[in-house]
Amino acid sequence: MAGRIPQHFIDELIARTDIVEVIGSRVPLKRGGKEYKACCPFHDEKSPSFTVSADKQFYHCFGCGAHGTALGFVMEYDHLSFVEAVEELAARAGLEVPREGGAAAPAHPNDELYIAMERALLFFRQSLSGEPRAREYLDRRGLDAEITQRFGIGYAPARWDGLLNRYGTTEDERQVLLRGGLIIERNRENARPGDAPGFYDRFRDRVMFPIRDTRGRTIGFGGRVLDSSEPKYLNSPETELFHKGRELYGLFEARQATRSLQRLMVVEGYMDVVSLHQSGVTYAVATLGTATTPEHLTRIFRLVGEVVFCFDGDRAGRAAAWRALENAVGEVKQGRQVRFLFLPDGHDPDTLVREEGAEAFEARLASALPLSDYFIRELSSRVEMTSVDGRAKLVELARPLVRRIPSDVYRELLVTQLAEAVRMSPGRLGELLGGDESPGRPDGQPPRHAGRPLLGPSSSAGRGNLVRQAITLLVHHPAAASGATAADIEALALIDRPGIALLAELLAQIREDAPASTAALLERWRDRPELASLARLAALECLVADAVQATGELRSAVSRLIHEESPAHRLDTLLAKAREDALTDQEKLELQGLLRTKGQSGRAPPAK
Ligand code: GTP
Ligand code: MN
Repeated sequence: MAGRIPQHFIDELIARTDIVEVIGSRVPLKRGGKEYKACCPFHDEKSPSFTVSADKQFYHCFGCGAHGTALGFVMEYDHLSFVEAVEELAARAGLEVPREGGAAAPAHPNDELYIAMERALLFFRQSLSGEPRAREYLDRRGLDAEITQRFGIGYAPARWDGLLNRYGTTEDERQVLLRGGLIIERNRENARPGDAPGFYDRFRDRVMFPIRDTRGRTIGFGGRVLDSSEPKYLNSPETELFHKGRELYGLFEARQATRSLQRLMVVEGYMDVVSLHQSGVTYAVATLGTATTPEHLTRIFRLVGEVVFCFDGDRAGRAAAWRALENAVGEVKQGRQVRFLFLPDGHDPDTLVREEGAEAFEARLASALPLSDYFIRELSSRVEMTSVDGRAKLVELARPLVRRIPSDVYRELLVTQLAEAVRMSPGRLGELLGGDESPGRPDGQPPRHAGRPLLGPSSSAGRGNLVRQAITLLVHHPAAASGATAADIEALALIDRPGIALLAELLAQIREDAPASTAALLERWRDRPELASLARLAALECLVADAVQATGELRSAVSRLIHEESPAHRLDTLLAKAREDALTDQEKLELQGLLRTKGQSGRAPPAK
């Protein structure tokens, strides 16, 4: 664990940070006398009562009473823990965060990578103002200065060593640019005769779209040619920071635009996103030239309950839509809405919204197809619905998808709708869909619901669930950890059951550094194999609405666990089972062990 951040550093950081700049980059501020004003980002209001004082380096909202320093603002607004907020501001100020206890905490290895990406962003932004061809191109595409700035759009000059000369003058710097995917190393394959060994800029003579993470840090770029040469778009390669299948272009900007997002629209291209935002449809995001992945969906549903996939009406658009559906069926459940919007042939969102305006474009949303309708419509179009064979084929096509729907309620609804389409009773169709074909997932993972009836209630209970339930509560509401005491954690740590060690560690960790959010909690597990399971739990629907209730539930789960797993209780349980001759081999061993310990502790052997 890294050492504490020394107080003198916090002081220096606050001194070097301008709160107006920090808040101004997240909330539009207006100057009013000595202070700056805005509509408060922490509560809904029509007239601005949120003020930022440059003198006092302090913000205060007269409406809701929110107040604090730049650090506090970043914590609140970006949902960061104290340490994360310190790191965020330090990166901005170009400072390295020192830790008490000397060399215990090296800088995060990715820090320099983030800095290199910011430098590249700056370089491309500056190059844009120096290149009339690029500015004319953006003009022609209808992008104004404001939107260009909001999305950080820039230009990579038409040379092999633009970025290299600016930020790659030492070997160390070049290695970082290389790790960031910004330059390419010459080797035998890509060298031309006469080339000196070395590096060259990856992006040349392209309009540059920075791809940002949810905190607004640049993690990659997409670059578009100014003419009709190929490839039209060039993306950053996969790097330590950038994973194509996970990122959504425009998500940061969408979250900036709307304090509490309700809906996201997924479109196909960079230009579509920028153009929609410019027209006022600020909830548009795009995948980066890939199909929508389950990871995208997990991220989307962590933020909003409603997603509209928007595709061109052509064949490619329909294929992309079906792939999105295949990935989305695993995520549908109550409270989530997935719809599909198909645009008229020959249009993409960019051209359409420019032609008809945001209002008409958004009116199309009313006609977007719910997932179930699209599902049935698409499948019906692939088979001969009037023949028995055709309808049987439809059942075959539907089966693997229907089986992946995790919500019993939703699956039942879909089966009912499908039954109507194939003119069959829902019960009979349910049986057919649940047939013996082994359900597999396209990603090669084991089926999530193998063996579960497709219609009807599912049931399960038990201790394993109690552990899982407690972990789920913590992942959704880290603050619920206050429901367990230090003594509870010690008691849990002594129990030898699957998952308990993880639960105990989570509780201890959260008590120690109180992650402000699920994401902050998950970030702490980034390098651990448990991350995947935790992230999966985080993606589940949370049944507990608030932290107070979660704390209560956690307290009761933990005390039940400790009680039920205590040696005395286990002994009673196992002895009762032994009397019915129902012990497994493992339980016999456990019982022997318990009896032995009990003997050693000098108490009377069980008298029953
Ligand atoms: P504009 O022509 O600028 O309007 O682009 P568009 O967004 O309409 O592009 P298009 O529909 O051709 O492609 C949609 C998305 O697919 C783009 O935004 C890119 O993310 C991706 N894409 C398109 N062409 C290429 C390519 O040549 N290479 C890569 N890697 N991605 C591409
Ligand atoms: Mn386009």
